[in-house]
Amino acid sequence: MNNASLTTNAAACPFGHGRGAAGQTPTGCPVSPRAANFDPFSDGYQQDPPEYVRWAREQEPVFYNPAMGYWVVTRYDSIKAIFRDNIAFSPSIALEKITPTGDEANAVLASYSYGMGRTLVNEDEPTHMARRRVLMDPFTPGELTQHEPVVRKLAREYVDRFIDDGKADLVDQMLWEVPLTVALHFLGVPEEDMDTLREYSIAHTVNTWGRPRPDEQVAVAHAVGKFWQFAGKVLDKMRLDPSGPGWMKYGIRKQAEYPDVVTDSYLHSMMMAGIVAAHETTANGTANALKLLLQHPRAWREICDDPGLIPNAVDECLRHNGSVAAWRRLATRDVTIEGVDIPAGARLLIVTSSANHDERHFPDADLFDIRRDNAGEHLTFGYGSHQCMGKNLARMEMQIFLEEFTRRLPHMTLSEQTFSYVPNTSFRGPEHLLVQWDPARNPERANRALLDARVPVRIGEPARHAITRPVRVASVTPVAEGVVKLRFTALDGAALPRWTPGAHIDIECGAPALIRQYSLCGDPDDASALEITVLCEPEGRGGSAWIHAHLRAGDMVHIRGPRNHFRMDESAPRAIFIAGGIGITPIGAMARRARALGMAYELHYSGRSRKTMAFLAELAQLHGERLHVHAGDEGRRNDLPALLANPEPGTQIYACGPVGMLRALQDCCAAWPGDALRTEHFIATATVLDPAKEHAFELELRDSGRVVGVRADQTVLAALRAAGVEVRSDCEEGLCGSCEVQVLAGQVDHRDVVLTRAEREASVKMMACCSRAAGKKLVLAL
Ligand code: FES
Repeated sequence: MNNASLTTNAAACPFGHGRGAAGQTPTGCPVSPRAANFDPFSDGYQQDPPEYVRWAREQEPVFYNPAMGYWVVTRYDSIKAIFRDNIAFSPSIALEKITPTGDEANAVLASYSYGMGRTLVNEDEPTHMARRRVLMDPFTPGELTQHEPVVRKLAREYVDRFIDDGKADLVDQMLWEVPLTVALHFLGVPEEDMDTLREYSIAHTVNTWGRPRPDEQVAVAHAVGKFWQFAGKVLDKMRLDPSGPGWMKYGIRKQAEYPDVVTDSYLHSMMMAGIVAAHETTANGTANALKLLLQHPRAWREICDDPGLIPNAVDECLRHNGSVAAWRRLATRDVTIEGVDIPAGARLLIVTSSANHDERHFPDADLFDIRRDNAGEHLTFGYGSHQCMGKNLARMEMQIFLEEFTRRLPHMTLSEQTFSYVPNTSFRGPEHLLVQWDPARNPERANRALLDARVPVRIGEPARHAITRPVRVASVTPVAEGVVKLRFTALDGAALPRWTPGAHIDIECGAPALIRQYSLCGDPDDASALEITVLCEPEGRGGSAWIHAHLRAGDMVHIRGPRNHFRMDESAPRAIFIAGGIGITPIGAMARRARALGMAYELHYSGRSRKTMAFLAELAQLHGERLHVHAGDEGRRNDLPALLANPEPGTQIYACGPVGMLRALQDCCAAWPGDALRTEHFIATATVLDPAKEHAFELELRDSGRVVGVRADQTVLAALRAAGVEVRSDCEEGLCGSCEVQVLAGQVDHRDVVLTRAEREASVKMMACCSRAAGKKLVLAL
């Protein structure tokens, strides 16, 4: 193993060489060479962390790195699960120095009485939630709007300083200072102390997450010590008059009410940590975002033309290239992640930037797509009870900065440069960002009114309807009786996102309120177009009839997605695909994928008659004897009980078609393993809520420590939204799976058609739009 490149707190290699997986490497060490060579201070990691660990995400999602003494976790679901369980995965090491300081630097810190204690970032329960609840109010949307004028004023003033120069280093001349000033305002730091605190803040990052050389450690320690002492003095000054705005002043006032929760040393530590948390992540995040947008001129042009796209673009920037690359956790008990056993006491580096590029969660994950439907699900702000409290302040600042730049400098481009990063494992952003433009073309020279134009900011996650994607109908082709295939292309002919079999898109059928989901068909790797098939159902809910009556080649239509709630398990050895009628759309794409993977499979396709069944010739050519056609008018019905008479462990059944067929399948699969059958429905089976037959119940929101009542005439989703808790949704009929929430306790009355039988029985998740509590209370991970 190579452990020469790091000064570390490395634990001994936990594996017994020569046993178990021995032989995996030439030395007999079961840690693979790539895992052993992982170095988060290397240029590769610093430049592009998700790319640096791509191999791990794809092949070795959890690995041990002996040089650091850390287990490294790289996939989305695992990392989200780690964030969610803050008991098994303690945040207590989140701020531990990744490179321990030497004796001399420690002595320097001690000489300043440096006593950084636990903060909201790294403390365990029950202390953490008690403090979080007490200190949360200044982060609510209503409170945050008060800071908008300060951010706008600063953004304008700083751009004024260089707008006529034709070039700037945006980090040096704006992005480092403005978020720091905003952070200090947010904390309530007096103006006269801001400059000194600005000076000290960077030392804290290097001290905690960086790898200073021994000679640098002493200088860093002096700066950190001074930062600590000065933060204490500023806090003392605030205590003299804690009235007025500012989070620290709020904390001082709360201390009077809850002296055991908000202690002196806690306030001192939070003062220092708060400055760094609110400052660096936003400064780096904005620099990363501008770099990314200017590297993608089409996206930059789009947000210049339509500032309404900025909120989603901000979240896509945070996903694709956020300012937080990784966090750390300590396993408090033996755990298994992705099949890898990890002992109690193990240290984990959870690479959130890698999770944000996980294809299993973000289709076409490497694509920078400002219209990405689930961009807001990135883990850059963490997740669960330790999710960044300042996330919406950061979002607001980034929106205002982008709005200022797109309005005043739409002609700005990146200058030729090599990007460098402050070496550390967790926070990342370029040290400089050189840009240029022609001042003669500054729009405000011709139109001064532009200076005062304002686009309202959105506090919180991007809005649902801000993220539609206009596409052109390239062709409408009849493919069976009453069935047309529609091919959509980008307006400018550019690539569209790739998708995975089972994925669907939403289509606005003539009005923003009439949104319908249609599964994708065709080739998922063909980025030139997206294709759907639509059966005209005059008695349906209006979507298909509108499409058949109105959409013609050349028309423009708004779509969202692609998104996939009907995924194939590509590791299963065998699959049975069952389609009824238009259900062939997702099922056909899955069977094509199974064929490409070399999986054992069979495809059963039923319809009233061959003339009503789309793609028959194409399917026969592709699947040969594996295709079984069941045309009703030929007397060849699919005998489901016979087909599924013998449960086959390891075989997955995927089905899409009419409700009657899917119900029959559920009966036929009663003896199969609980998660063998996966279905996609066309229409909901949940009935309209009848308050006379329902009961009211309570939701305990474990992460935010709140209790929300759900009335008998209200859905869980509606109750959560009324309480200001954001939960995504699409169909709101239990069909699509987008409103899934995690259930920690309580029995669920499942009414969706998304979950498998095994998932229902486990009762660890539910669809908030339709499912309810079977009893008086549910505890949710929100
Ligand atoms: Fe589609 Fe709830 S929003 S299942």
